[in-house]
Amino acid sequence: MGKKQRLIVGMSGASGAPLTVELLRQLSLCPEVETHLVATRGAELTLRQECGMTLDDLKQLAPVYHDNGDIGASIASGSCKTMGMIVCPCSMKTVAGIVSGYSDNLLLRAADVCLKERRRLVLAARESPLSTLHLRNLYEASQLGAVILPPMQTYYNHPATLQEMVCHTAARILSQFDLERDLPEWEGMP
Ligand SMILES: Cc1cc2nc3c(=O)[nH]c(=O)nc-3n(C[C@H](O)[C@H](O)[C@H](O)COP(=O)(O)O)c2cc1C
Repeated sequence: MGKKQRLIVGMSGASGAPLTVELLRQLSLCPEVETHLVATRGAELTLRQECGMTLDDLKQLAPVYHDNGDIGASIASGSCKTMGMIVCPCSMKTVAGIVSGYSDNLLLRAADVCLKERRRLVLAARESPLSTLHLRNLYEASQLGAVILPPMQTYYNHPATLQEMVCHTAARILSQFDLERDLPEWEGMP
């Protein structure tokens, strides 16, 4: 097998912690990828609230974990080559930090590096309803090159359980990097 490619997963404090857990599970099935995980303090709270998990539990799901305060970490530099970054879920505060370039934590700095190096940055941005300010920031992020991929429910795949829904959404996110598994392509109406 060739050299592994790095992919950064940033988890911020929007609702959707089960999605991050599933994303990391699916990435663990991709031997060609080395996942680098970074999580905010807000993410720790949603992780506890939505999954009953601690940060230590989450760390076990990724081969490399970086502390969000460690702005000297490898992924803070463009010289550390990566496939890009997924921010999942992405809070509106983190969107604001990304579009303003206010990189005061490692997650924001890593996203900033992806933009400056023209690497793929996928934001699974989540809030409801979205204010004009949120929409403006999301528009700006898109203009700057980020892919805005809100973790939206789909019905055409007839999910029978919440877990099936989460699996599908995680695969949709990974398809941005051609890493999805078992994601059926839409073949048109029967
Ligand atoms: C249980 C819970 C759910 C939240 N859900 C959202 C959300 O869906 N979207 C959002 O933008 N913020 C949400 N927040 C608020 C953010 O966590 C908060 O704005 C935080 O400062 C974000 O910081 P971070 O982006 O550094 O994680 C939620 C907070 C909690 C405790």
